[in-house]
Amino acid sequence: MELVADRVWPVVSLIEWREADRQFHLANGRLSYVLAIHDNGALGPLHVGGPLATGRSYRHLIPRPFAGFSNRLGDAVALDCPTPGSGDYRVPGLVVEQPDGSTVLELAYRGHRIVAGKPPIAGLPATYAETDDEAGTLEVDLADARSGLVVTLSYTIFRDIAAIARSAGIRNDGSEPLRLTTAMSLVLDLPGADWDLVHLGGSWARENHVRTRRLELGRQSISSSRGSSSHVHNPFVALRRTSTTEEHGEAIGVALVYSGNFLAEVEVESFGSARLRIGIDPETFAWDLPPGAGFATPEAVVVHTTDGLGAMSDAFHRLFRERLARGVWRDRPRPILVNNWEGTYFDFDEERLVAIATVARDLGIELFVLDDGWFGKRDDDTTSLGDWFVDRRKLPGGIDGLARRITELGLAFGIWIEPEMVSERSELFAAHPDWAIGIPGRPRTEGRQQLVLDMSRPEVVDYLERVLADVLGSGPISYVKWDMNRWITEPWSATLPADRQGEFFHRSILGVYELYRRLTTRFPDILFESCAGGGGRFDAGMLAFAPQAWTSDDTDAVERLKIQWGTSLAYPLSSMGAHVSAVPNHQVGRITPLATRAAVAFFGVFGYELDTTALTDAERAEIRDQVAFYREHRDVLQYGRFVRLRGPFEGDGNTTAWMAVAEDRSRAVVGFYRVLNRPAPAPDRIRLRDLDRERDYRVTVWPVADDTIGRANARVRRGDDLETVGLLIDVDRHEAAGQGDFWSRLFVLEAV
Ligand code: GLA
Repeated sequence: MELVADRVWPVVSLIEWREADRQFHLANGRLSYVLAIHDNGALGPLHVGGPLATGRSYRHLIPRPFAGFSNRLGDAVALDCPTPGSGDYRVPGLVVEQPDGSTVLELAYRGHRIVAGKPPIAGLPATYAETDDEAGTLEVDLADARSGLVVTLSYTIFRDIAAIARSAGIRNDGSEPLRLTTAMSLVLDLPGADWDLVHLGGSWARENHVRTRRLELGRQSISSSRGSSSHVHNPFVALRRTSTTEEHGEAIGVALVYSGNFLAEVEVESFGSARLRIGIDPETFAWDLPPGAGFATPEAVVVHTTDGLGAMSDAFHRLFRERLARGVWRDRPRPILVNNWEGTYFDFDEERLVAIATVARDLGIELFVLDDGWFGKRDDDTTSLGDWFVDRRKLPGGIDGLARRITELGLAFGIWIEPEMVSERSELFAAHPDWAIGIPGRPRTEGRQQLVLDMSRPEVVDYLERVLADVLGSGPISYVKWDMNRWITEPWSATLPADRQGEFFHRSILGVYELYRRLTTRFPDILFESCAGGGGRFDAGMLAFAPQAWTSDDTDAVERLKIQWGTSLAYPLSSMGAHVSAVPNHQVGRITPLATRAAVAFFGVFGYELDTTALTDAERAEIRDQVAFYREHRDVLQYGRFVRLRGPFEGDGNTTAWMAVAEDRSRAVVGFYRVLNRPAPAPDRIRLRDLDRERDYRVTVWPVADDTIGRANARVRRGDDLETVGLLIDVDRHEAAGQGDFWSRLFVLEAV
């Protein structure tokens, strides 16, 4: 699939500067990003796409200037840092208000540096290089002489991944105050608009459904102004050719490493070019830059491939899994957990929890997670957020007492927190009502009967660090689920002057990152899982602190096919929390077989979300087998390459198939799912991908091996046979009659 599989590119050749051509070329054999300094000093792209040879000039790719820009005919039309007001009427990448109120800038090249590795971005999550030879970074300074503004555009190319990370540093080197009102992380000017825009959208419990629309004249955008990336839109978009499939064709993916308000937008202008921009949502942003001050944008990651959406996802998965996630849990097998939320909601005490954990232990489950309701007086969701003190009515032995009993059983212990929130009925709110976001003299909008703390205030972050460090240090806690269940309304901070309220949202998310940084640094052995009413903040920013996230509150197997499929466009299996819950499902009331619930949840970080004491003996036996299966194939199911075979958004969506393949292709697990049963089904075949075509694989079928599917497939087959012909889904019609809806099969392939 990759163009250059094993060739090691020395870092010097990752970034080429051709002085005579005033041209930069970032190249790793998988993609090329060629930039030119134009005659007027502007920086713009000559090519963003498939690999081109280094050692050559590409200045012939400079696009013809727009007709009509007659005062400065000859100016570049493809730009990496476009600003408004000088004849380029497309959406800008940077808008800076100057003391006279104008926003026109003439950004011109002033110098550049090429450095090995990748410098961090202060205060913000970002991808990284572990050694200086795995990435190279180009920093280009552009300056506006009149205002004293200096913009440093930073591009990192990774040696082994078809990805480039871009961010911008903006500094006021002048003597007058400036004000940023738009500061995009990335602008990509593309010569044509013959693309479909792919994005991930939905709502609570319906996250990350794949949406595709044709690019058209004008702007098309997705965004969030809710204070976090949100369930509605994910900070990820892709451009694909209409003919691009999972396996073939061109695609450009762009993801923002940021968890706050964002905008991702593509504008097609009248001559057919397309400008993609992504960054902090300008609608809810402004930032003061007094003389000497600087601002860092979040980072955006661009992936380009000519090998289909599968290869695009694969590049994101590798980068996010290996060079965005960090800490001891980055590469470790993630534990199989049981979470008590849907099992008990708020109605539990120590004995009930220990009983659930005891059964879980007998089933082979490895981690018990105590969800919401252990603190303050929280018997429902109307009180106590912010009071992170154990409720001794429920847990007389404290967190420590419970954690010790759980760990003595042989399970690890984890806990739920929702740091950024406060209930109006809480001791914290009584003591610090002004810490809750709101505007004096106006009512606060209610949401889940809770308010959001003003994380832009350092004293709030300090307080939360102190009380939460007490909780996390109070017993053997090895996992934290960090939830966030409400959007921000009435945005305003008591500590910011009137003319700087535009900084509020970004400062809030910086406060969240700071708290994450402090707690993950103080508790480096704890596995953090992020959550926001399910997938309301499932983004690359969070993955830099918490290597896994709760994908959705919807645990229904059928709904999860869509949610996990969509999420996988950008995010790796190791980041996707996926649990089996009880039926009827609590979100949709659907009754699906236990086997299917597991077969879907296996593709991710697996667990259970139910009351284990309520399971029948037969269910316990089945779960014991599921846990054993997952343990056996966990390495592939968490860290293997995820390959989407047939999707719930394709055709009638009735069948879905996907697989996870070991890096060395020696093993794979394939999931096949059929939503509704149909009488006398036609035979079907699922062509596999990414196997070793010349190797033999033993195929075993799970959980039932002695039906027609099992008998037809359980044999040794060569990789080419499995890829060219495929697995045989040929159900005998008598058996089909008994299978019912929501049916699934897993196939394990082992090279022999
Ligand atoms: C959110 C989470 C759930 C659960 C509840 C607890 O909805 O997504 O998993 O933790 O909060 O209140």
